[in-house]
Amino acid sequence: MSRRILTIFGTRPEAIKLFPLVHALAADARFASRVCVSAQHRGMLDQVLAIAAIAPDHDLDLMRPDQSLDALTADLLTGLGRVMDEERPDWVVVQGDTATAMAGALAAYYRKIPVAHVEAGLRSGNIHHPWPEEVNRKIVGTIAALHCAPTETAAEALRRENVDPATIHVTGNTVIDALHWITARIAAEPGLAAGLADLERRFAGRRIIGVTSHRRENFGQGMQAIAAAIRRLAAREDVAVIFPVHLNPNVRQVMNTELAGLDNLALLEPLDYPHFARLIDLSYLMLTDSGGVQEEAPALGKPVLVMRETTERPEGVAAGTARLVGTDADRIVAEAGRLLDDPDAYAAMARAHNPFGDGKSAARIVELLAA
Ligand code: UD1
Ligand code: UDP
Repeated sequence: MSRRILTIFGTRPEAIKLFPLVHALAADARFASRVCVSAQHRGMLDQVLAIAAIAPDHDLDLMRPDQSLDALTADLLTGLGRVMDEERPDWVVVQGDTATAMAGALAAYYRKIPVAHVEAGLRSGNIHHPWPEEVNRKIVGTIAALHCAPTETAAEALRRENVDPATIHVTGNTVIDALHWITARIAAEPGLAAGLADLERRFAGRRIIGVTSHRRENFGQGMQAIAAAIRRLAAREDVAVIFPVHLNPNVRQVMNTELAGLDNLALLEPLDYPHFARLIDLSYLMLTDSGGVQEEAPALGKPVLVMRETTERPEGVAAGTARLVGTDADRIVAEAGRLLDDPDAYAAMARAHNPFGDGKSAARIVELLAA
């Protein structure tokens, strides 16, 4: 009898980090693999489903404009519960720390279905940074029967919380599997990531700063400060900024107001994954508050300045490729300026590291699910 696995996700980063596992499960006769998307994100999720060629078995289509956390969570809980009652899986797989992951784990727990948590054990130690993700992942961690920790640091965080050590496995982060996969796809089919060529020509001779920003805890003052910092950096003669703007209206409203009409700054719609990988490649440095970008940039040897007060991914900082710079505009400009003006400081950060995995994480998780 093949083991029935229901993999659940809803946002862009979950889709990127789970497609390698979905591919591996689908190719393995030991499993009957089913996929449910909550569509907590719509457009940004669909971009990933398209490139990874995943057709979900269930699509709850839950995204609402500027959705509140409580309404989203309520819809997720009942919607995902219904799918579990229909599918009756042996395992539910969730990833990371989104509302979808948290509600998926809770609905499975209510049905006594064991949960496998991919990217388990990330902790900032502060329930308000990142918000609400720190609490989401602690809830999933309390419920999960299998914890796939990306690093030894993450495994240790779970042991400190008295999670049964027999259920914790260091698998690496599937984000590196995804990055290897997309790099190979682009090498075979360069047209997949050729859409930035016009910007490359427009910004020739300038060093590119790639930017993303979307964190809820930065809404308001934090986002205003980030916008002010980017504006000042884009005023430099030797710099151009490429900023694909997240679809969250709280981000777009600020960035589209504060950063419109600047010569050396391109505000773009969210890039699909191959084009975003290309943007990291083109960039001299990345400026971000994203979790996933903190993992991808070190793997590609690009310095990354993290516009957050805390990080649950200390490995990039320890490896020297990432630096926490907070959301104070002066600090962001100063730290970016240091990398732009001091070649030694730049060289010290611009080295490829793979603290987050070797690209074989999905294969390890498959074996754990089979065991
Ligand atoms: C969510 C996750 C966050 C993750 C981020 C990745 C939660 C609580 N938050 O944050 O952990 O880091 O995704 O990007 O789970 N929207 C669109 N189209 C899209 C996506 C979003 O229009 O494809 C807009 C909608 O108006 C939506 C809003 O963005 O209501 C917020 O989306 P939501 O998933 O609730 O939160 P994010 O801020 O995207
Ligand atoms: N990403 C993308 N297009 C973009 C910006 C980001 O494909 O325009 C990818 C990026 O490569 C990474 C993931 O989205 O894998 C990060 O997602 P996000 O920053 O939205 O969420 P987080 O990782 O902070 O949860």
